[in-house]
Amino acid sequence: MRVGVIGCGFISYAHISGWKNNNVDVVALCDLDEERLNSRGNQFSVKARYKDYKEMVEKEQLDIVDIVTPVGAHRSIMDFCCSRVKNILIEKPFVNNIEDGTYLVRKCKKYNCRAMVCQSYRWHPWFEQIKKELDSNIIGKPFYSNIMQRVSFDIPTGAENRVPLIEDQPFYENVEMLMLLEQGCHFLDIYRYFFGEPQYIQAYVERVSPFVLGDDLAVVTIKFPDTIGIVEDLWCTNGQEKTSVTFIQGEKGSIYFGGTDGAAPHRTEETGDLIIELKDGTRLQRAMDAKDYYNRCFQKMQKHFLYCIENNLQPLTSIEDNLKTLQMAFKAYRASVEKQTLFFGE
Ligand SMILES: NC(=O)c1ccc[n+]([C@@H]2O[C@H](COP(=O)([O-])OP(=O)(O)OC[C@H]3O[C@@H](n4cnc5c(N)ncnc54)[C@H](O)[C@@H]3O)[C@@H](O)[C@H]2O)c1
Repeated sequence: MRVGVIGCGFISYAHISGWKNNNVDVVALCDLDEERLNSRGNQFSVKARYKDYKEMVEKEQLDIVDIVTPVGAHRSIMDFCCSRVKNILIEKPFVNNIEDGTYLVRKCKKYNCRAMVCQSYRWHPWFEQIKKELDSNIIGKPFYSNIMQRVSFDIPTGAENRVPLIEDQPFYENVEMLMLLEQGCHFLDIYRYFFGEPQYIQAYVERVSPFVLGDDLAVVTIKFPDTIGIVEDLWCTNGQEKTSVTFIQGEKGSIYFGGTDGAAPHRTEETGDLIIELKDGTRLQRAMDAKDYYNRCFQKMQKHFLYCIENNLQPLTSIEDNLKTLQMAFKAYRASVEKQTLFFGE
């Protein structure tokens, strides 16, 4: 397998190290920014380096293109690549409107290009474990869930008064649909994975931090066939430690995962155990191995993609599947503006 990576910014480290750990060759890198291109190229000893992705794709005979750029570049890059390369891995959010998504799904089908979105939270150890527990029916039919994450991520913190979000990923400063599309989409996707397709949605999406253009506070309620799911997602907390909790209540008991960084740890590996408590008094504790989980989940996600390529399957998070997740985010934004409950499938 010959992989070419487009975009050598913040998250490209997890992608390139993931490929290496899967024993797949990253043969070429591309970035508009020469400094980033050379920095990653030197770090991973990749010799072929391009500023123009079209040139890279034409010259390198790639089996996989890994698109690790912000969403604004996705439509044109994918439009070009899908008729020339058989497999595309693309970062979330895959598109920022349904029209581009529908267009790309059709075009990939036409050229028989397998395309998978990096909805990487599905491979976080605790979400993988929760999915297993739900599939085993240990808590019976789930009827309520809450995923809550509070982080002071776009408010200046510490002695240096830095805004951590913007330091790490400067493009977030000017993203219009920020919290819910860039990060909340992971939780919306997890809910679809756990509870099936949504029926209707209500939302409050707002901006608190003056340091970003987009939203940084989202409270979304989704009705699934059997389950009410709530996402409470904040990047704008003042003076509070990161807190994340995932809670699921079922007919026979509940699943709880929390601690400092339960649902989506940022830059730390501290987590609690996953706790299952049943009506009959049984209490089970599943230890979570969070060591280097952030990079490992990319490796696991790529492994799934490689398996799908080898066995001619569609990935779990194909672009077609992912459009349904993005539809939830787009509807949530609209539901918030219109102060309406919005339905799916109409
Ligand atoms: N799956 C996850 O958990 C996860 C985590 C972090 C970031 N992301 C996503 O990954 C994407 C990239 O994020 P990042 O933080 O690495 O961004 P970044 O800004 O650090 O890096 C993006 C790089 O892409 C390059 N680029 C942009 N357009 C290009 C083009 N046309 N050709 C070549 N290079 C181009 C930029 O020069 C930049 O170096 C975003 O969509 C982000 O939402 C996903």
